[in-house]
Amino acid sequence: MIIKASIQHASVLSELGAETFYASHQHSAPANQLAAYMKKVYSLEAIEKELADPVNIYHIIMHNDTVAGFSKMELTIKHPAIEPDRISKMDQIYLLDSFHGLKLGAELLSHNIDYSKANGQNGMWLVVWVGNTTAIAFYEKFGFRIVAKDDFQLTETHLSPCYIMLLAYASNNKIS
Ligand SMILES: CC(C)(COP(=O)(O)OP(=O)(O)OC[C@H]1O[C@@H](n2cnc3c(N)ncnc32)[C@H](O)[C@@H]1OP(=O)(O)O)[C@@H](O)C(=O)NCCC(=O)NCCS
Repeated sequence: MIIKASIQHASVLSELGAETFYASHQHSAPANQLAAYMKKVYSLEAIEKELADPVNIYHIIMHNDTVAGFSKMELTIKHPAIEPDRISKMDQIYLLDSFHGLKLGAELLSHNIDYSKANGQNGMWLVVWVGNTTAIAFYEKFGFRIVAKDDFQLTETHLSPCYIMLLAYASNNKIS
């Protein structure tokens, strides 16, 4: 089951975000840099602010009545390496470790793609750390392709190398 998150889910999302981010990125940067980033992005206060802004579309996926993961997407977000307009950004998609490999990620990503298409979008882009080979393989299964390399500013002093991946929706022939 997938639900659209609202302010009442702030505490769940704060805990889920911190746990899943750390599990996925613990080898990408020094521990103190990760802690600083997680405080900035996943503190309860930060998540409440995010949920209060309708631009941020959060979904939570449940498995057998237990919270398994979440996603965040924004509509019509430009990336300098991507030409056409009306492209969504898949900002975060994270499952707890014990729920990997159960097709929940596929279900959640499909849900976001459907949501984006229903809102007249032409495609979806995302940022993925170059060392996250699991996620890259997962996105490639959906037809995402690497279109650029970039650096993700984790903190003021740490840059994480990453890829920009793009999925152009089939009905759109403007995207190369
Ligand atoms: C990436 C993630 C969301 C994938 O979700 P998941 O539920 O584990 O993946 P699914 O079970 O839905 O798999 C969907 C497809 O991707 C494939 N896939 C998943 N992991 C893969 C891997 N490591 N290598 C190759 N293919 C993989 C599956 O085989 C499946 O393809 P199939 O339908 O042909 O069998 C999940 O592993 C996750 O939360 N990872 C940690 C957080 C993260 O890294 N998020 C991305 C940040 S950019």
